[in-house]
Amino acid sequence: MRDKIVAGNWKMNNTLDEGISLASEISNMVADEVMDDVKVVLCPPFIHLSSVSKIIEGTDKLYLGAQNCNDHTSGAYTGEISVDMLKSVGVQYVIIGHSERREYYGETNEFLMKKVDTALAAGLTPIFCCGESLEIREKGEHFDFVTNQLTESLFHLSADDFGKLVIAYEPIWAIGTGKTASKEQAQEMHEKLRAHIAGKYGEGVAEGISILYGGSCKPSNAAELFAQKDIDGGLIGGASLKSRDFVDIVKSF
Ligand code: PGA
Repeated sequence: MRDKIVAGNWKMNNTLDEGISLASEISNMVADEVMDDVKVVLCPPFIHLSSVSKIIEGTDKLYLGAQNCNDHTSGAYTGEISVDMLKSVGVQYVIIGHSERREYYGETNEFLMKKVDTALAAGLTPIFCCGESLEIREKGEHFDFVTNQLTESLFHLSADDFGKLVIAYEPIWAIGTGKTASKEQAQEMHEKLRAHIAGKYGEGVAEGISILYGGSCKPSNAAELFAQKDIDGGLIGGASLKSRDFVDIVKSF
């Protein structure tokens, strides 16, 4: 049985007080309403992590994730945050390779390989993001492009380490646009990714990996996406900022 996971990527939103309120609301709603076996990962901005950690401490479904980490373990990297710092405030997951980091901060497949290694070495679970632009999809190159992102950033890992990852497929044309991939488009890509992983690591590893969908996932479309055979949950941006919407998505399995 693969883990069912819904992760909320708050991005650069909410002051500390707002973040504390949001996390408290989500924590209460999840405790009252979510009976399913699902892991709910909150990924607030760095400076909220310590406070959110205290809110979710002792809950059985909520986990803490960071939106990024540095590829080095410590040193003279002004303004950066290390994996050990994240761990010291209770972080368990870290989003790596989000398309916004790739696009605005120049993060390449090769560079992301280092971040994945650093996160795994610290015992954090990377949520590794992949996904194509509209231009690539329209040229019909999306399967090659996305599988190549996995090959270049992840296929140096041992099968044991690869099995610790969570993958998130996020078509760039669907992120923050309100335009969700159809359940068929998402399932098709997830199936390709799982087959690609199986080709390298075997069926056992591929079948165990949770592959999340991200890109304008909301309460109205989460159930049909999560019902697909190869979709194991979601990485949620905009809708994770509203407790009611986010928890409704969590309840969509
Ligand atoms: P969105 O963002 O749900 O707002 O489209 C998803 C993401 O970027 O992780």
